[in-house]
Amino acid sequence: MDHARRIVMSSPDHYEVCYSINPWMKPDEWAADPVAAGRTARAQWSALGDRLRGLGLTVEVVPAAPGLPDMVFPANAAIVLDRRALLARFRCPERQGEEALFLAFFDQLKRRGVLDEVRQLPQGLFQEGAGDCIWDARRQLFWVGYGQRSLAKSVDHVASFFARPVRRLELVTPHFYHLDTCFCVLSGGEILYYPPALSPQSQALVAAEVPAELRIAATAEEAAAFSLNAVNIGRDLVMASPPPRLKAILEARGYHCHGVDLSSYMLSGGAAYCMTLRLDLSSRAAEDNAVAQDCQWTFGT
Ligand code: ARG
Repeated sequence: MDHARRIVMSSPDHYEVCYSINPWMKPDEWAADPVAAGRTARAQWSALGDRLRGLGLTVEVVPAAPGLPDMVFPANAAIVLDRRALLARFRCPERQGEEALFLAFFDQLKRRGVLDEVRQLPQGLFQEGAGDCIWDARRQLFWVGYGQRSLAKSVDHVASFFARPVRRLELVTPHFYHLDTCFCVLSGGEILYYPPALSPQSQALVAAEVPAELRIAATAEEAAAFSLNAVNIGRDLVMASPPPRLKAILEARGYHCHGVDLSSYMLSGGAAYCMTLRLDLSSRAAEDNAVAQDCQWTFGT
C-alpha cells in the first residue's frame, strides 16, 4: 500500500483567461499582455508546487492541452477518497473537453498502482469534482455543494459511490459557484466559510453540525481574496496571500499560513485548493487521528 502524500497539479502551459464562465474571469485583463500574463502565471504555479513539495507532498503533473485553459484546476476533475476516484462531468461546454483527458490521466494512475478504482459520473449528471465535494476527516463525511455548477441530483450518486455520509450545501451566488470558493475544512475540525454564499437552510445545517467555537466566518473581502480556497495539510495551510485579520485568527488556532501569490489564477476564479487535487485522502487516516490528539478543541461531544 502506498502511503505517500500525493497531490495533482495540471501544467500551466496552455493556461489563459480567454472566456468568462464565472464573474471573476477577466479575459480583457489577460488579453492586455498575454505573454507577460502567461509568464507570471507559470511562475506562480511553480511557486505553489514548490511550496507543496516543501511540505512533503509528491506532485503528480497532468499534461496541459491547447484550448482547455481551465484544466489547470484539477480539483474539478474528480473526487478521490480511499484510492477510489469518481470523475466529474462539467456543466460548461468550455470545460467538457477536459473529461477525456483527465480520464486518461486517472486510468494511468490506476495502472501505476496509485489508485484502485476509476469511474466516471453518468453523462449529463453535472458534478465538478472535489471543488464541490470536500472531505471532512474529523466528521467522516463529505460537504457537497450544488446549485451553481453541480446538480443537486448528483449528490446521491456521490454518496452511494463512496458509501459515506454527505451534507448538502446549496450555493446561492454566482461569485461562489464552487463550494471550495467559500468553504474550507481544517484538520482541527474548524470550518472556515463565507456564510452568505450558502442558502439560509444550508447555513443552519452548518450551524447544527459544527459547534460555534469551530465556525470561522470570513468577511466578503477575505472570500474575495480566495483565502478559503486553501490546501490544508495537518497544521499547514497553503493559500493565496492571506489577509491579515484571517491570518491572525488562523495562527492563533495553531495553523501556519503559507501565502503564495496566485493572482493570475484568481483572474479565472480559482486559487490554491482548486489548482490541486489530493490523491491521498483516506477515511480514518492516521494523520488526522494524530491531529485530533493535539487539537485544542473538544470535538464530537
Ligand atoms: N475558470 C474556472 C471555472 O470557472 C475556475 C475553476 C476554479 N475551480 C474551483 N474549484 N473553484 O470553471
